[in-house]
Amino acid sequence: MTTLFDPRDPAVRTDPYPVYRRLRETDPVHRSDFGFWVLSRYADVDAVLRAPGVSSEFYRNPSWAQRRGGLDSPLVRSVRSWLLMLDGPAHRRIRGVIGKVFTRAAVDRLRPRVAAETNRLLDAAGEGRTDLIASLALPLPVTVTCDLLGLPTDDRDRFRRWTEQISRVIDPAITAADVAELNRAETEFRAYVTGELDRRRATPRDDILSLLAHTEVDGVRLTDHEIIANVLFLFVAGHETTVNLIGNGLLALLRHPGQLKLLREHPELIPGAIDEITRFDAPVQIASRLLDDQVVLDDVALPVGSKVMLLFGAACRDPERYADPERLDVTRTGIKNLAFSGGPHYCLGAALGKMEAATVFRALLDRYRVIELTGEELCWRPNVSFRGLERLPLDLAH
Ligand code: HEM
Repeated sequence: MTTLFDPRDPAVRTDPYPVYRRLRETDPVHRSDFGFWVLSRYADVDAVLRAPGVSSEFYRNPSWAQRRGGLDSPLVRSVRSWLLMLDGPAHRRIRGVIGKVFTRAAVDRLRPRVAAETNRLLDAAGEGRTDLIASLALPLPVTVTCDLLGLPTDDRDRFRRWTEQISRVIDPAITAADVAELNRAETEFRAYVTGELDRRRATPRDDILSLLAHTEVDGVRLTDHEIIANVLFLFVAGHETTVNLIGNGLLALLRHPGQLKLLREHPELIPGAIDEITRFDAPVQIASRLLDDQVVLDDVALPVGSKVMLLFGAACRDPERYADPERLDVTRTGIKNLAFSGGPHYCLGAALGKMEAATVFRALLDRYRVIELTGEELCWRPNVSFRGLERLPLDLAH
């Protein structure tokens, strides 16, 4: 037992990459003293994501559910239907319906709305000193998810409050006071979306919520409970991830001015650069799995019942997979991006998240001649599964 990796260590929050390198080099299948196996090599993370007998149903762990109000609390009942937390046929059935309506074409239709909302937020930010997280990265994704689903953007502030509260369900440090607040937020959210869903059933509209209410896969529709739980999950899944992609991505570019200059001179490179930016500083650093079957990695057998932590951030910088992995190279090709996971749970919103980030970077470069860090000390949000800045203070000039 060692403390080779402690995701709560402030030094790891600030810069996890030296620890990831040490793990990959000295103990890539690491038995941590907090009871998880910790995997840091690309090949191992990829293998576990795709292996049969690997479960995402974390709520099955009695202490996980108990700490969140029990299996029948409003919050845990919702989480038990989230795509992210399901395995096998139950997962395939819900993913089949959501995948059928959340298509590339649906993402393309959102492009003008994302550009308009980005411009609206940047108009408000103006010139001079601004915190780009507060002024742009945080408000944008919730509005985009409202647009995606066809929910009223006038209520974006309520959706943002619910999303921010309920996102804390996956935080291992959740408290009893949090749980009471989260259960209240879930109940309010469910009442709101139930009303919207009833209206779509009476009069379908040209939006994804209507499609979710009416789409069948193999003759079966989703129940109202499943639709509402996964509408909530879409808000949660698209929120902090996208905030962090925008924040981490811009920070990486500002710390590599040559790469930023290249994108300024060749904006057509921006969409392709997003995969590299995501690889370089992954918005989701950690995913967890439970083993229902044994998994063998090299010579180490991970027994049935093991809890496994997959370090996406470490896998994305594995020199066995990427040449010169610590270098940001926006022209890099051949990225098979584990930052969006892999196997059955591969991110359904990857195209949308990448489009949002590309739109933001394009708008910033079009609009501002000067984009500079202010020199204020940067600080990272405490949630261990994610990696993102609390604030990104910038000086902006046209
Ligand atoms: C922008 C950056 C984003 C990143 C880095 C990201 C990353 C991820 C990751 C790592 C997973 C899988 C976790 C696991 O395997 O346990 C995931 C799943 C998912 N993401 Fe994203 N995501 C992003 C944006 C979005 C957006 C914008 C949406 C939708 C609005 C979205 C919807 C989903 C859904 C529905 C799943 C669950 C898929 C399943 O379990 O079958 N994501 N995402």
